[in-house]
Amino acid sequence: MSGASNQKKIEGLREKIRHHEYRYYVLDDPEISDADFDKLMNELKRMEAEHPEVVTPDSPTQRVGGKAREGFVKAKHSSPMLSLDNAYSEEELRDWERRVQELSGQSDLEYMCELKLDGMSLALVYGDGRLERGITRGDGSVGEDVTLNVRTVRSIPLSLAKEKLKKAGIPADFEVRGEMLMPLAAFRKLNEEREKQGLTVFANPRNFTAGTVRQLEPSITAQRRMDFFAYFLLKDGQTFFDRQSKAMDALEAAGFKVNPNRRLAKNLDEVWKFIQSWEAKREALPYEIDGIVIKVDRTAWQRELGFTGKAPRWAIAYKYAARGGVTKIENIEPQVGRTGKLTPVARLIPIPIGGTMVANATLHNMDVIERLGVKIGDWVEVERGGDVIPKVVKVVEDKDHPRGHKNFEMPEHCPVCGGNVVRTAGEADHRCVNANCPAKLQGAILHFASRHVMNIDGLGEALVNQLTERGLVKNVADLYKLTKESLLELERMGEKSAENVLGEIADSKKLPLERVIYGLGIRFVGERTAQFLAEHFGSLDAIMHASAEELEEVNEVGPRIAESIVEFFADEHNRRLVDDLRKAGLTFTGQKKEKGTKLAGKTFVLTGTLARHTRDEAKKMIEDAGGRVSGSVSKKTDYVVAGSDAGSKLDKARELGVSVIDEEKLEELVG
Ligand code: IVH
Repeated sequence: MSGASNQKKIEGLREKIRHHEYRYYVLDDPEISDADFDKLMNELKRMEAEHPEVVTPDSPTQRVGGKAREGFVKAKHSSPMLSLDNAYSEEELRDWERRVQELSGQSDLEYMCELKLDGMSLALVYGDGRLERGITRGDGSVGEDVTLNVRTVRSIPLSLAKEKLKKAGIPADFEVRGEMLMPLAAFRKLNEEREKQGLTVFANPRNFTAGTVRQLEPSITAQRRMDFFAYFLLKDGQTFFDRQSKAMDALEAAGFKVNPNRRLAKNLDEVWKFIQSWEAKREALPYEIDGIVIKVDRTAWQRELGFTGKAPRWAIAYKYAARGGVTKIENIEPQVGRTGKLTPVARLIPIPIGGTMVANATLHNMDVIERLGVKIGDWVEVERGGDVIPKVVKVVEDKDHPRGHKNFEMPEHCPVCGGNVVRTAGEADHRCVNANCPAKLQGAILHFASRHVMNIDGLGEALVNQLTERGLVKNVADLYKLTKESLLELERMGEKSAENVLGEIADSKKLPLERVIYGLGIRFVGERTAQFLAEHFGSLDAIMHASAEELEEVNEVGPRIAESIVEFFADEHNRRLVDDLRKAGLTFTGQKKEKGTKLAGKTFVLTGTLARHTRDEAKKMIEDAGGRVSGSVSKKTDYVVAGSDAGSKLDKARELGVSVIDEEKLEELVG
């Protein structure tokens, strides 16, 4: 096939994929199955691999083209990104309308009502129909360039067809501003995963969004399934449609995701109706909102009205009352979670918040207690988000609400098992270190049995509770000692179910080494790390006896993970557990991924922004060829691989006379 016809075929395929991305991520209305979509994508990847010369940055395959960076570059906004003034009551809203009417000299203004999405605002700059830059709000005039992260969001078009833009009345060079957010479902799932890995959980989706937008590693942003809603359209920093409502319609027509829950209100009564109707309905939305934004629709009047210091006079945010209340902390008690984390929980005089009685609220950890200055006996403001557990926001103090006096202190021993409680330097959380703590045990068994680990179907919460409460299972190895007779003694357990569970348990022994490693529940060792460990060492014994330095040679394993693994196997209980699992017949060996020898004995340091590989890819490439990657340059370093914007490491290399190479040279060395 000729080059030209290949290119045509590839571009056709890209158009098709863009269309299906639009149907799925923007309209939420796919026309084809996920499997068929994957097929198209794989076909495109295959063709592009055969013809790398025609790969363009706006190809759907190039969303996660990023590389880990050391920081973000500042970027100036075309015009200030402003915030909004708030109104908290109908009266304040009517006052606003009066001001707006007086200043504009207009009495029948129309208002665009939009949901106030609770995420993070972003500016997207398009040039010649292609996404050029994504910039955070920053201080309003200068933000941070987060383009690589923004590109991973599937509802953000990487390029838009010229005809479509033209038809929508949008020039090829334009800017869109809007809100990046994390849907609640993704938020819940990610927090669950973090909890499993023993990481601190995020308090709300907005915090998660902010952390994700500023991730230095774009592949992490990509995994987090963020969403983007457009609500502002500019050219050279200025609005150019004569109405906000028309700009929204144009953005929608061009292919952006625009929130459908919007309304052009003829007067403030209609605005108020919209506000009230969403106050109740907001609970059912798949993302969080914290109010309604009301904008004077005609841009001519907007210009007339102008701005105060940092907010436009022509718009206002009506904020829904936070779902909270004031109550007294009667006591603070540490609660042990399944990772062993002790969470201080405030026991409250129960108060109704948003339809439910709240008697407990989390104080997260000692840092939060210190920051809030909370004591037992204090009166506090408690808030409940859409789906998050109630939390204490601040201490209230006045003549009706005197301060408490008793400080809360973390116990030195676990309230459940009496084991030692430690706080690792640099971490906010206290943890019970006893691997056999019953609170941990149930969590550990559920993790071990879950689908991605040992896949023991039928071993759910109810059964695990019975097994641990009756002392039949004291650690995960005991699962393999269960008999039909012992199971039949349990409630709601017949012959057939007992046989099924035992069959499932027996089957799990055949699962590969990486599952067993993941199943041990070592802090920070997730599914991926377990896989890399298995490939690198080839056996559980080798991992168990590895030093921190040896562990750090594994792909994606840094000092923190290495130390956690060493610590785990240093514990006598854990070593006994591993022995029992061995005796039970679980898979302890696997296929060691043979390494090349081309770079054997050579140490590399990566610095700057690499253009062709992510940091992880480059690291893996070096390690697969037998080399080692280190974080700092020393006399022992053989090569420094420098990308663009390389900083102090490059200077150090030059100073020490270490060879500095680029990516192409690295590829050559690897072969
Ligand atoms: S308009 C000058 N529209 O609310 C125009 N903002 O409190 C300013 N927000 O920084 C923004 N939904 O992050 C606008 N439909 C919406 C919005 C919205 C959420 C956020 C945005 C802004 C903040 C101001």
